[in-house]
Amino acid sequence: MIKKLTLTAITALSLSLSGAFAAGDGEAHIEDIAFSFEGPFGTYDIEQLQRGFKVYSEVCRACHGLKFVAFRALYEPGGLNYSEDEVRAYAAENYEVFDAELDDFRPSIPSDYFPAVTGLGMGPDLSLMAKARAGFHGPAGTGLSQLVNGIGGPEYIYSFLTGFTGEEREVAGQFLYGNTAFDGGWVSMPPQLSDDLIEYDDGTPATEEQMAEDVAAFLMWTAEPKMMARKQAGFVGVIILAVLASLLYLTNKKLWAPHKYGKELDL
Ligand code: HEC
Repeated sequence: MIKKLTLTAITALSLSLSGAFAAGDGEAHIEDIAFSFEGPFGTYDIEQLQRGFKVYSEVCRACHGLKFVAFRALYEPGGLNYSEDEVRAYAAENYEVFDAELDDFRPSIPSDYFPAVTGLGMGPDLSLMAKARAGFHGPAGTGLSQLVNGIGGPEYIYSFLTGFTGEEREVAGQFLYGNTAFDGGWVSMPPQLSDDLIEYDDGTPATEEQMAEDVAAFLMWTAEPKMMARKQAGFVGVIILAVLASLLYLTNKKLWAPHKYGKELDL
């Protein structure tokens, strides 16, 4: 019985490993990028988030919604450091929502959410995309490298945006574009970024790579706006536990000292 079970387990393991190897052989190419928010003490680079928001706003929002992000998150603590007035103006100028009470459309206000974008040729919602995709799968598809490198969501978005090969083909009336990061190699989203497509307010040269990196960082923020607070809370937690552990250690020593050393002395 045991022998049979062991055999089954070994077969299952080798099968899944060979599957993983096969999957790992795919050409998907993911660039590793040193984002500022990586590591236990990493923080968002607010200027980068602002640039990424500009890329989203001028390029991606034509086809992608951010339905889990409220406009007010842009000025609230942990946001993008805009003023409330700036955000109020941005929401009102760029977006409308349907108000059931008015039975009509009205300009958006900060408590509204970025609307979902749906329809033919539109892409998936991007609010959580940086956490929904993994860039790193190795070694051999086990995902162990994620312990060190993170899941690689923003890296995936960067590699996806810069991974267009320039090839194009038509399948049943739909155009597909070659992409080295996308699973399967062909995606229905046309290439979006090219050098100097937009102009950054802070003077940063808007190269294709720069825009891809900035919008990937911005999408990491939309997926996890409270990352900084979470890391801080974790750090405080570790310190409290360390203090508690040393106190317990000392208490333990003191409690047992008479028994331990007392006995030894009796000998
Ligand atoms: C012209 C419309 C259009 C624009 C503009 C556009 N996208 Fe897309 N995007 C799509 C479509 C359509 C898909 C779905 C592709 C598919 O699944 O074949 C998609 C898919 C995606 C995906 C998901 C890929 C995956 O792994 O499933 C990401 C990430 C993405 N887009 C990011 C962006 C970013 C960032 C921008 C702005 C720089 C952008 N897109 C601009 C249409 C667009």
